[in-house]
Amino acid sequence: MSSRRPLIAGNWKMNGLRADADLLVSGLAARYKALSAPAFDMLLCPPATLVATVAAQAAGSGLKVGGQDCHRNEKGAHTGDISAWMLRDIGAGYVIVGHSERRQDHAETNAVVKDKAQAAQAAGLVAVICIGETEAERDRGETLRVVADQVRGSMPAGSTAENTVLAYEPVWAIGTGRTPTPDDVAEVHAEIRKVAAEVLGSAAQQLKILYGGSVKPSNAMEFLGLTDVDGALVGGASLKVDDFWAIAEAV
Ligand code: G3P
Repeated sequence: MSSRRPLIAGNWKMNGLRADADLLVSGLAARYKALSAPAFDMLLCPPATLVATVAAQAAGSGLKVGGQDCHRNEKGAHTGDISAWMLRDIGAGYVIVGHSERRQDHAETNAVVKDKAQAAQAAGLVAVICIGETEAERDRGETLRVVADQVRGSMPAGSTAENTVLAYEPVWAIGTGRTPTPDDVAEVHAEIRKVAAEVLGSAAQQLKILYGGSVKPSNAMEFLGLTDVDGALVGGASLKVDDFWAIAEAV
């Protein structure tokens, strides 16, 4: 792990009712608060229905809260959508944008993701911008090119190491139990940092780049120990207090 402060982020996806949030947040908050000087930040990204609840429950614990998506506009005629300003208003400090499930299920292009990230930054949120290749792209040997294109296409010009986090999530590793080798992850993260420097310059050294895709307590150490890996974006395993905490402890 580098000198960048690690971030362990949980993406609950479309999971969780109020009772689940209660159990998860109280369990994690108690453990996080018990650390006298936590060596990592912990971020919870519940579904939009629970952001306000989780933010209220997490208040005073040091846990950070984020949304899973936002619209690219501040307000207007966009039925069913939520703006970054609205997330900020209910206690979020972060928002995930460009998750592959949104790129696939909602046809979000790099241009859309960039606009969303820009909106998030303008609203005062940290944009967690997700990138990652499909299995077919990997099989064709295109991983580095695809990821570099996504960084160039999805990262707004006004990005800084403070208002932006990048998350590398190979699509084929999400929810499958399959993961790239640590060498592969190291190579991709180094490439991401190199390309991010086109926007950030030397501040790219301060940028957090997370790995996501079937992170579990049993494999967290092999990824979190890599030089350019500054934390994890965790899906399934973030829904269990013990598993998510065990991943954080790998830091
Ligand atoms: O955003 C997190 C994610 O897509 C990874 O999910 O379930 O493979 O940890 P999972």
